Amino acid sequence: MERKITVPDLQRMKDAGTKITALTAYDFSFGRIVDAAGIDVILVGDSLGMVVQGLDTTLPVTLDETIYHCRMVARARQRALLVADLPFLTYQVSVQDALRNAGRLIKEGGAQAVKLEGGIAMAETIAALAAVDIPVMGHVGLTPQSVHRMGGHRVQGRRRGQAPGERERVIADARAVAEAGAFAVVLEGIPLDLAAEITAQIDIPTIGIGAGRHCDGQILVLHDVLGLCGDFAPKFAKRYADLGRAAVEAIAAYAGEVRGSVFPDEAHSFLLRAEQPGAATIDVTPPSAISVASQPALEHTPPTPIGGAPTRARRRRAVG
Ligand code: KIV
Repeated sequence: MERKITVPDLQRMKDAGTKITALTAYDFSFGRIVDAAGIDVILVGDSLGMVVQGLDTTLPVTLDETIYHCRMVARARQRALLVADLPFLTYQVSVQDALRNAGRLIKEGGAQAVKLEGGIAMAETIAALAAVDIPVMGHVGLTPQSVHRMGGHRVQGRRRGQAPGERERVIADARAVAEAGAFAVVLEGIPLDLAAEITAQIDIPTIGIGAGRHCDGQILVLHDVLGLCGDFAPKFAKRYADLGRAAVEAIAAYAGEVRGSVFPDEAHSFLLRAEQPGAATIDVTPPSAISVASQPALEHTPPTPIGGAPTRARRRRAVG
């Protein structure tokens, strides 16, 4: 197995000019796929509220829900660094809250690091977490938990100024996050020249989303990459597959075969084993009478799992 990615590895990657790859995941199946694809950082983002729970914003996502999703991804993770989002209001009220809740993401969720949104206003909190060795990834620019202040999910840093969301303030926020001890910072929804300026100014890795190619790494939401969000496609998110359409077609094909009595056929049915005592014949009508004595024993072969031997759960299911 390849060596696991660690927090210090990301700094080494920035220093060596190696781009960092990051992607969200929210459950065991996709966690395994993302990890097997060689992504460096898996984020259990509070975007789960929008792409998994069907909400309009990330604000209602709870800590318990995040821990639940994180635990599933942690079981799948072999190599990637696992980071979990601190949801809205789990870290803004007090530093004590932030410590306790970040600790739960590590202890109960199995995360190796936490992410929180905000710059200057969060510096004290980031420093407190870093002081007890809870690695923090910052997040500035378009911060989805600030959706009401921003008046929607809007690109930030286009206008000059020091007010929240303005260019000089985004730079100051990123600097504050780095100086407070974060190990990396997400730059979301800002012009690419601003992201380039920040990336050159701060020592820690910048991970961009809608922030252009000059960042030290890139992150996207899994559902956008795989085409699992219907027709919705944010400008910055490239769709690398259309699994949503493929899934609809596959499920419609299954439904058609069930309605037409085509599935399950004999290849997908269990027969009595020929060698089993008392298993001489079995009368199955319809679709046809099957003489088990003349049939080889059928085994259901599970599909080859991604990466390594079948899990215990899979093996248990395979023997029916
Ligand atoms: O919640 C999330 O998925 C995120 C990433 C998009 C950066 O914060």
